[in-house]
Amino acid sequence: MLTLNSKSALITGSSRGIGRGIALKLAECGVHRIAVHYHKNRSAAEQTAAAVRDRGAEVTLFQADVMRPDDIARMFAEVKEAFGSLDILVSNARPDVEHFYQPPFEISLENWHKALDSQALAMLVSVREAVPMMRDGGRILAVTYAPGGRTGSWQPWVAMGSAKAAMESLCRYFAVALAPRGITVNMISPGATDDSVFNTLPPAVLEMIKGWAQAGWVPMRRLTTPADVGAVTALLCSEEAAFVTGQLIHVDGGASAMSADFPLELQKG
Ligand SMILES: NC(=O)c1ccc[n+]([C@@H]2O[C@H](COP(=O)([O-])OP(=O)(O)OC[C@H]3O[C@@H](n4cnc5c(N)ncnc54)[C@H](OP(=O)(O)O)[C@@H]3O)[C@@H](O)[C@H]2O)c1
Repeated sequence: MLTLNSKSALITGSSRGIGRGIALKLAECGVHRIAVHYHKNRSAAEQTAAAVRDRGAEVTLFQADVMRPDDIARMFAEVKEAFGSLDILVSNARPDVEHFYQPPFEISLENWHKALDSQALAMLVSVREAVPMMRDGGRILAVTYAPGGRTGSWQPWVAMGSAKAAMESLCRYFAVALAPRGITVNMISPGATDDSVFNTLPPAVLEMIKGWAQAGWVPMRRLTTPADVGAVTALLCSEEAAFVTGQLIHVDGGASAMSADFPLELQKG
């Protein structure tokens, strides 16, 4: 088990889904103080907080809308007030799909901005706010969905795909800027994840996605879990990962190693 003793961490969007999995894993690895952030769902955040406490960490709840830079700045001021310093920032929050899920010829300019603001602008503001309270050797992580920025097939994902691509680019610039202080900036790209926003899909659609993974498009033949993402977050936060920066790590059971050029029968392990 990795140890991240005496560290403090803020995980945005940790009231549920992947963010909750990250908060729980960091607590299991000994992170001492955890900031659980939520937007509207305080009762879910309180459930996460209780589970974090059960794992031995102190926890404080913070609320902010990541589509609003002034709100993000206010939250960091509150974190500074409560914690004094920060060792780990995980930027994970993403607005609910009704704010951005529209194809390229239909998406409103307002929703386009919501997607970009919640990812790229939020990352810009968050890192600028976090770094002054971060000791040398700190860790910054962004949760992305890299295929959404690289491919063009999931049409209503155009705004979020573009927003994640912009955020990933920004991470590489911050990685270089912060390297002299030993602060690493990396990206984690989960595959389709169980117990996340996917739980809001109609059951038949969720089953279809699971079947796709089991058929072999995910070589490990299952969906990602929030715990998988939490485990890799902890790895990247460890002292042993001090020389890894500016990198994008897929946590997808090998899905990103598959090719869309050939039938599955020709590429299964
Ligand atoms: N799920 C997947 O399969 C998958 C795959 C790859 C990457 N990802 C990425 O992983 C991250 C988490 O995804 P998820 O599926 O776990 O999400 P989720 O279950 O939908 O949870 C979203 C989280 O973000 C918060 N949030 C929503 N709107 C917000 C806003 N306007 N301002 C601040 N926070 C807000 C929510 O807080 P409340 O509870 O208060 O609403 C919640 O904590 C996202 O960045 C997503 O793009 C997900």
